[in-house]
Amino acid sequence: MAFEHVDYKSLDVPAAPFSDPSIIPDFPKDKVPRHVGVIMDGNGRWAKQRGLIRTDGHQAAEPVVFDTIAAAIECGVRYLSLYTFSTENWKRSPQEVRFLMGFSRDIIHRRVAQMDEWGVRVRWAGRRPRLWKSVIDELEMAMERTKNNKVIDVVFCINYGGRAEIADACADIAREVRAGKIKGDRVTEKMIAEHLYNPDIPDCDLVIRTSGEQRTSNFLAWQAAYAEYDFVPELFPDYGREAFWRSIDHYIHRDRRFGGVKK
Ligand code: IPE
Ligand code: IPE
Ligand code: MG
Repeated sequence: MAFEHVDYKSLDVPAAPFSDPSIIPDFPKDKVPRHVGVIMDGNGRWAKQRGLIRTDGHQAAEPVVFDTIAAAIECGVRYLSLYTFSTENWKRSPQEVRFLMGFSRDIIHRRVAQMDEWGVRVRWAGRRPRLWKSVIDELEMAMERTKNNKVIDVVFCINYGGRAEIADACADIAREVRAGKIKGDRVTEKMIAEHLYNPDIPDCDLVIRTSGEQRTSNFLAWQAAYAEYDFVPELFPDYGREAFWRSIDHYIHRDRRFGGVKK
């Protein structure tokens, strides 16, 4: 079967300051979610629908990732977690895994100047073992270069799993117990939260998942325990700025009670 290849460079996103201000929704500042997570799903199906190979779907997602970051900046989201590669994604074919590793590394390399210009502080959440060293090296360079940026923190969740993160936090706590820094029977929620990959990042307020799937797939298990969810039908390469703003609008109209009773 012959595959048609698309030139994705033509799908690039504009440089700052992005959109015409008149099209940016005027959300009340105190209502905008502080931390949004996005499960960027549906790249493979997008490619299949076009008779392309799965990796073409991942390539088509690149400009959409940056459009999503721009949309988050424009409406005042302070933390954006992007589910890029899960601890379960190693189950895919060696070719796809190799592509996703190389592509993640290259995107961070190619886009770090753009992110720096936008005021993005690049972060990473994930497990070191198994993750390609070249990916970790690019992430570390990008994190160092952008460490003083304050517009938005963008967390690339790569080799990330919510359960793995909690298990890693528990292992850290156990080491501290052994070292005598913690009394063994006094493990608290606060202590676990302080041992997550990025303990300074607040809980997630809104998780968006594209492609119509209604599951969390092990994303932000701890931080999204009380998040609102927006499951949207678009496949991720068809997602973008306006769809992101629609999700923010849905969130703003939710009634968050946290187990209490509405006044
Ligand atoms: C999401 O798209 C990207 C990653 C998991 C890396 P998929 O590759 O899961 O696309 P579908 O779900 O097979 O369509
Ligand atoms: C979740 O999507 C992981 C990422 C988006 C990185 P998957 O496509 O891997 O999840 P499942 O297999 O549908 O649960
Ligand atoms: Mg998927």
